[in-house]
Amino acid sequence: MAVTPPAQQIWWKEPVERVELVWIVLAFVWGLAMFGTMIAWHIVGKQNLANEAYRTLPETYMAKAEAFAEKYKVREEGKTGVPVVRPPAGADVYILGRLWEWWPVLELEKGQSYRLHISSLDWQHGFSLQPVNINIQVHPGYEHVLTITPDQAGQFAIVCNEYCGIGHHQMTGKIYVVERNPQ
Ligand code: CUA
Repeated sequence: MAVTPPAQQIWWKEPVERVELVWIVLAFVWGLAMFGTMIAWHIVGKQNLANEAYRTLPETYMAKAEAFAEKYKVREEGKTGVPVVRPPAGADVYILGRLWEWWPVLELEKGQSYRLHISSLDWQHGFSLQPVNINIQVHPGYEHVLTITPDQAGQFAIVCNEYCGIGHHQMTGKIYVVERNPQ
């Protein structure tokens, strides 16, 4: 019971004010327009990726990523000896995010397609590929799969763009895209 109840108790049966109706219609139409834009960007934009997602477990995913890195490792780099992994064209490739790195480093061939799997072993991270600015939220327990075809050679950086604690700013990774082998 309100302290000062309205004089007319059944106020909700009043007709809606005209101006209010206009605002409701405008907001609804704008909502539809934004929804349409979301779908349109998926088709004409370059950043909304058509990815698949599957349930997994951190330990299952780690085992797959480690087996992958072991199998196709070509060298190590950096002080920490992070493996550089060069899978064959068309292969399933794995990147894992964890506090605080993207692991391993990939070496892919330009013009070839790969099935890129990404998951997190601990917290939520933001996979952000630079400078092309491709972004995807990475959750533990979910395996995201993207079909990618690198179209320019060079070195691409992966940064984490979802705050994940004290080492967030150091959470980086790398993808090399190399020219196709002549043979
Ligand atoms: Cu991982 Cu921020």
